[in-house]
Amino acid sequence: MATERTLSIIKPDATSRNLTGKINAKFEEAGLRIVAQKRIQLSKEQAGEFYKVHAERPFYGELCEFMASGPVVVQVLEGESAITKNREVMGATNPADADEGTIRAEFAESVGENSVHGSDAPETAAEEIAFFFSGLEIVG
Ligand code: CMP
Repeated sequence: MATERTLSIIKPDATSRNLTGKINAKFEEAGLRIVAQKRIQLSKEQAGEFYKVHAERPFYGELCEFMASGPVVVQVLEGESAITKNREVMGATNPADADEGTIRAEFAESVGENSVHGSDAPETAAEEIAFFFSGLEIVG
């Protein structure tokens, strides 16, 4: 197993319900270390750029509107197999399919408003981290 970094976003449905601390506790309890974190407001254009891989999907417009509808907390999580571990802690994209105890099972409202995003592979993690953070902002 290798130490990895992954990009996490706490989405507007969660920040609006003041869930940042509870979600961060789930990451830390799983052994993930928050090595960078900031609360920001995305524009629709910035959300569209971040999610451009989904540009052809029917939910793309709704996704960009939602991600720009309120503050998000962007973070870098570090740990052993952090990409996979974070995806386990988040649970399935659709909260109806998420395992008990996962963030999405406990907090997500729908497949669109699903509280958290996490990178899905090492290449996307590197790209997504660089989208939000400079090297100087990440302190392991
Ligand atoms: P995320 O992990 O951030 O990656 C892309 C997002 O698109 C996903 O979480 C969901 O929030 C969103 N998404 C996926 N499928 C749908 C859908 N059918 N309707 C609305 N949003 C969706």
